[in-house]
Amino acid sequence: MKTSIPFILDGNIVNVDFHPSAGLRPTTTVLNYLRSLPIHRGVKEGCAEGDCGACTVVIGELTADGRMKYRAVDSCLLFLPMLHGKQLITIENLKDTEQHLHPVQQAMVDHHGSQCGFCTPGIVMSMFGLYKNSHQPSKEETGLALAGNLCRCTGYRPIIDAAAAACASGNRDHFSADESKMIELLKSISQESVSTSTSDQRYDQPSTLKEALKLVQQFPAAVVINGASDVALRVTKRFEVIPHIIDLSRVEELKRSTRNQHSLSLGAGLKISDAMPLVRDDYPALHEMLTWFGAEQIRNVATLGGNLGTASPIGDALPVLMAYGAEIELTSAAGSRKIPANNFVLGYRRTERRPDELITAVILPKASTSSNVRSYKISKRRDLDIATLSGGFRLELDSKNNVREIVLAYGGMAERTKRAESTEAFLHGKPWTRKVIEEAQRCIDADFKPISDVRGSAQFRSLAAKNLLMKFWLETV
Ligand SMILES: Cc1cc2nc3c(=O)[nH]c(=O)nc-3n(C[C@H](O)[C@H](O)[C@H](O)COP(=O)(O)OP(=O)(O)OC[C@H]3O[C@@H](n4cnc5c(N)ncnc54)[C@H](O)[C@@H]3O)c2cc1C
Ligand code: FES
Ligand code: FES
Repeated sequence: MKTSIPFILDGNIVNVDFHPSAGLRPTTTVLNYLRSLPIHRGVKEGCAEGDCGACTVVIGELTADGRMKYRAVDSCLLFLPMLHGKQLITIENLKDTEQHLHPVQQAMVDHHGSQCGFCTPGIVMSMFGLYKNSHQPSKEETGLALAGNLCRCTGYRPIIDAAAAACASGNRDHFSADESKMIELLKSISQESVSTSTSDQRYDQPSTLKEALKLVQQFPAAVVINGASDVALRVTKRFEVIPHIIDLSRVEELKRSTRNQHSLSLGAGLKISDAMPLVRDDYPALHEMLTWFGAEQIRNVATLGGNLGTASPIGDALPVLMAYGAEIELTSAAGSRKIPANNFVLGYRRTERRPDELITAVILPKASTSSNVRSYKISKRRDLDIATLSGGFRLELDSKNNVREIVLAYGGMAERTKRAESTEAFLHGKPWTRKVIEEAQRCIDADFKPISDVRGSAQFRSLAAKNLLMKFWLETV
C-alpha cells in the first residue's frame, strides 16, 4: 500500500506526499496545487465549480490497450490523488523545447483569439484536447469542445476559427513525438492502491473492486467518489473537510462494458465521454441526453455511477434510463443485486444503495425496435447547464395505434425523478391522437406538485411538463 501519489509533470515523475510540512491535503485540488508551484500559474481560477473552464488542464493517460488518451478537465474539481498514474499537462507544457508555440497557441495568435487573456490558458487547453482527439472537427464538435470555457471579451468567432485552423493542420506535435517515451514512463509508475492520511483526513484509493468493497464494508460512513464532479463542490464551495474519502477512480472493473444479445452493461465508473460512443447507435435518446451533460471537461470526469449516486432530482441520466427499462447493479462483499432504475431512488438524495454497497453497473435491456424512446432537457442554456426539468419517455403502440406501453419519467418535477403514473394510466390503451394527449396533459397536475426555485417557477414547470408530452406526441405520431 502506497502513501504518496506518483504522476508525471514536465516530463518527470513527481511523488506527492501529504505530510503536514508539504501543506497539501488529499482534497487539495489540482488547481491549487499548480498555483502553489512557481512555474505553473498560467492556470486560472474563475469559479471553482466547473462552470468557466479557466482552470482547464489536460490529463494524458494510458488506455486499456496501451495507447495515450488526452482529456481536458477542470483542475478546480480534481483532487490531487486523482492524478495517480497520469500525465498532467498544463499551458506551460505546450510549447516545444525550441520554444516554438504549439499549433493551437499559434492559431490563437494568428486569429486574434485573446484580449484580456484571463480565459486564454483554459481555452487553449480545451483546444489542445480537441487537437489531440479530432482531426478536422466539425463546427458542432468544436462547439462542444469549447462549451465549457467562458470568454467575456474576445467573442467566440476568432476562437472557433483558431480551433478549426489548428486542428486542420494535423495532430502531430512534440507530445506525439515523445509518446512512446511517455507510455514507458507511465507504465513505470506503480499501480498499487493508495491509503494516505493527514491529521484530519483519510483518503483511500483502491485499485481493485474487491479492495473497494472491503473498504466500504469497513468504513460505511466514508464518502465514496469516482469523478468527484459533484463531491468536489463540498470542498471548493463549502470548504468542508471531508474526514474520509474512498476514491473509485482507479478501479478498472468499474470502467468495463459488456454487450450480449439481451443487454448492454455499462460499468458505473465509465466516464460520460466514454459511455457516449457505446450507446450512440442502440440507445440514441441516452446519447442525446449525455451530449448535453455538463461540458467536455465535466463529461471527461463525471461517471454514470456518480450521476445515479447523487440521487439528484435533476440528474440527467435517470429519466432516460427509466424510459429504457434499465437496471442498476449494486454490489457488496456478499454479492450483487439488480434494482430496476424505476425503484432506485427512494426520496430526496436517498437511494436503495446500502452503505456497504457500491453501484457497479447500469444494465440496459436490448433496445426494442417497436418502441420509441426520447429524452428532453429543459434548461436556461443549452450547454453546461443543469436541467430545470427533464423527461425520458417511451412509447409502444399496438397495431391499431393504441398505447400498449408508455413510460413518462420526469426529472425536476418532484423531490426525486418520478414517473407520471396517473398520466400513464390514463393513456394506456387509448389511441395516440392529439385529442387524447390534450386530455392527458391535465393528468400531469395530479401527478406532480413542482416547487418554484431559481431555475423555474412551479407554474413554468407544470406547463413545460405538459408541453414535453405534446412534443413527444408530435415526434412520434
Ligand atoms: C459544472 C458542472 C456541470 C454539471 N452538469 C451536469 C449535467 O448537465 N447533468 C447532470 O446530471 N449532472 C451534472 N453535474 C453533476 C455531476 O457532474 C454529475 O452528477 C456526475 O455524473 C457525478 O459523477 P461523478 O463520478 O463525478 O460523481 P462523484 O462526485 O464522484 O459522486 C457523486 C455521488 O455519487 C456517489 N458515488 C459515485 N460513484 C459511486 C459508486 N460507484 N457507487 C456508489 N456511490 C457512488 C458519491 O458517493 C456521491 O454521493 C454537473 C456538475 C458540475 C460541477
Ligand atoms: S475555475 Fe471555473 S471551471 Fe474551474
Ligand atoms: S480574453 Fe478576456 S475573458 Fe476571454
